[in-house]
Amino acid sequence: MAQASHTRHEQWSSGLVFILAATGSAVGLGNLWRFPYLVGENGGGAFVLIYLACIVLVGFPIMMAEVMIGRRGRQSPINTLRRVALEEGLSSGWQLVGWLGVAAGFLILSFYSVVGGWALYYALQALVGSFSGISSEGAGAMFRGLVSSPVPVVFWHTVFMLILFGIVVAGVRRGLQRAVTILMPLLFALLILLVLYGMTTGAFGQTLHFMFAPDFSAIDGRTVLTAMGQAFFTLSLGMGAIMVYGAYLPSSEHIPRATGWIVGMDTLTAIIAGLAIFPIVFSAGMAPGAGPGLVFETLPVVFGTIPFGFLLGILFFVLLSVAAITSGISLLEPPVAYLIESTRLGRRGATGLLVGGIWLLGIAAGLSLNVWAGVRIVPGLDANIFGTLEFLANDLMLPLGGLFIALFAAWFMRSASVSEELDLLHHGPVYRLWRVATRFIAPAAVILVFLNATGLFG
Ligand code: PHE
Repeated sequence: MAQASHTRHEQWSSGLVFILAATGSAVGLGNLWRFPYLVGENGGGAFVLIYLACIVLVGFPIMMAEVMIGRRGRQSPINTLRRVALEEGLSSGWQLVGWLGVAAGFLILSFYSVVGGWALYYALQALVGSFSGISSEGAGAMFRGLVSSPVPVVFWHTVFMLILFGIVVAGVRRGLQRAVTILMPLLFALLILLVLYGMTTGAFGQTLHFMFAPDFSAIDGRTVLTAMGQAFFTLSLGMGAIMVYGAYLPSSEHIPRATGWIVGMDTLTAIIAGLAIFPIVFSAGMAPGAGPGLVFETLPVVFGTIPFGFLLGILFFVLLSVAAITSGISLLEPPVAYLIESTRLGRRGATGLLVGGIWLLGIAAGLSLNVWAGVRIVPGLDANIFGTLEFLANDLMLPLGGLFIALFAAWFMRSASVSEELDLLHHGPVYRLWRVATRFIAPAAVILVFLNATGLFG
C-alpha cells in the first residue's frame, strides 16, 4: 500500500476512489432527508436559489481549499493545520480550526445517527411489508409513532453507531470502497425512477414551480443562514471530513477536477431528491412544510402503491441507510485519525472511545424528540436538544470553520504553495478565479450571512 513519507495513514488507491469516497461523504441524509424538508419549510424556489448560490460561490472554492490543505498536511485536520501552518511560517494556533471541526463533527454525528437509525428502522418496515397499501395519514402516524417512542429511537441509534464502529475499525479504505462504488450509483438510479413516477402523479408541474420559481417574500435573514448552513452540511465542509479524505489522496490527482465531480454529484442528488419527493407531497395534498418527517411520511405511500413497490421500498431504505453510513464514517474519521496520531490508542480504541461519547450525546438528541421535548439548553433558542445541536453545528460551526479555512488558504498560505498543490498555473484563469472566490467572495458571504441572521440589517 502506498505510504507517503510523513504519514501513518493509508492512501486511496486512485483518484477515482477519492472522488467516490468524498461523494459518499457528501451524499447522505443531507441530500435526501434534510434538503427536501428545508425546501418545504422555507418556501421553495427562493431557498433553492440561495442554496445553489452558496454551493457555487462558497462551497466549491472552500472544498478545493480543504482538499488542498489536507493533501499538503497528510494527517488529521488538527495536525494537518498545525503542520501546514508551521511549514508556511505561520502560527501553530491554526490547529484550533481543526479542533472546531472535530467538535462540530462530534455534535453532528450525535443527531445524524438518530436519523440514520430511522432509515434502518424504515428498511426493516419495508422488509416486513408495513407499507403495503398505506395511506398518507397512515405513513404520518407511523413516523410519529416512531419518533415519539424513546425505546425504538434509542435502539436504532445504537444499531447505527455499532455499524459505524465496525466499519471505521476495519479502516476507511477497506470499509468504504465497495460501498461507494456499487451502492451509490444504485441509489441514484432508484431516485431517477422515483422522479419518473413523480411525473405520472399530475403534480410534477406544481413541483417544478415550487422548487424553481423563487418567491423572495418567503425569505428572511434566518432563511439565508439556513441555506448556507445546508450548503456546508451537504458538501461535508467546514469540519475536516473532506480535509482528512484529501490527506489520503495520491499526489498525482488533480484537485479542481475531483472537486467539480463531488460538488456536481452532490447537488444533482439533492435536486433529484426534491423532484422525487414533492410530486408525492402535492398529489397527496400534504403540506410541504411537514418538517423532518417529510421523506419518511411520503415515500412509503408510493412504495405501498406502485408495482414492485415492495422490493423498491426495501432497496430505497437500505440504500438510504448506506448513504447515511458512508457520511457517518467521514464524520468519525477526523477525530479517529487525530487520536491515532496523538495518543497511544490504536484504531479500535480511538474509534470505541469516540463512538461511546457520541452515542451518549445521541441518546439525549433522540430523547429530546419525546420525553425531553421541553428541555431547552441554549437560552433564547426555542429548540429541543436535537434542533439545538443541528443549529449550532450546521448553521454556525460549519460556516465558521469554512471561513477560517478560506482565510488560511487564500490570505495566509504562500500563493506558490497553493497553486503548486492545486496543480494550477499561477497566472491561469482557474487559479485566479479560485483565489478571488476564496479571498473575497466566500469570506464576505459567510460574514454577511452571519450579520444578516442577527437581524442587524432589519
Ligand atoms: N454531507 C453529509 C450529508 O449530506 C453530512 C456530513 C456533514 C458528512 C459534515 C460529513 C461532514 O448527509
